Amino acid sequence: MTGVAMSEVARSADTSRRKFLVGATSALSVIGAIGIATPFVASWKPSAKAKAAGAPVKVDISKIRPGEQIRAEWRGKPVFVLRRTPEMLESLKANTDRVADPKSEKPQQPSYATNEGRSINPEIAVLVGICTHLGCSPQFRPEVGASDLGDDWLGGYFCPCHGSSFDLAGRVYKSVPAPTNLVVPPHSYESDNVLIIGIDEETV
Ligand code: FES
Repeated sequence: MTGVAMSEVARSADTSRRKFLVGATSALSVIGAIGIATPFVASWKPSAKAKAAGAPVKVDISKIRPGEQIRAEWRGKPVFVLRRTPEMLESLKANTDRVADPKSEKPQQPSYATNEGRSINPEIAVLVGICTHLGCSPQFRPEVGASDLGDDWLGGYFCPCHGSSFDLAGRVYKSVPAPTNLVVPPHSYESDNVLIIGIDEETV
């Protein structure tokens, strides 16, 4: 999969959401994201009023390059938005036997994200960046075979507080302190390049 193209299935599913969102989100404030390694649209700032209300936030994902992640903020929480490469998506399959809840059977995500990638668009992961153990913020560690994480590390998230680790879909590895996968927030797409965190057909 290249660029921002969605799979046909995801695109089809998204069409109805998009129609719905045109009306439902027209009054939303527009929020920027706090880039980690990605330049971002500086003019997109959340209003103080919108932040205080915990309003849904729009995120321009057009500038996230494959393999990169940005950090948005929704309801005072960090939200990781990662554009996964084909190799990253392949690594999810390899992790099936290593993660505690590979099919996302625990309710840590909306129903439309109950799939291997835990996402609407397989390329784009959207995860609340708070460890499900005691609430630290995990580090994005995409390096395969990172020296401090082991030769079999395929990239993911590592929580430095007590050593929990998650794969690139936020699925928690077995035998770590964190009990569940990272939370996938309600989200939807206004277009291929505009993600909305905090609103979907299930939350309206
Ligand atoms: S808070 Fe993340 S491992 Fe404890």
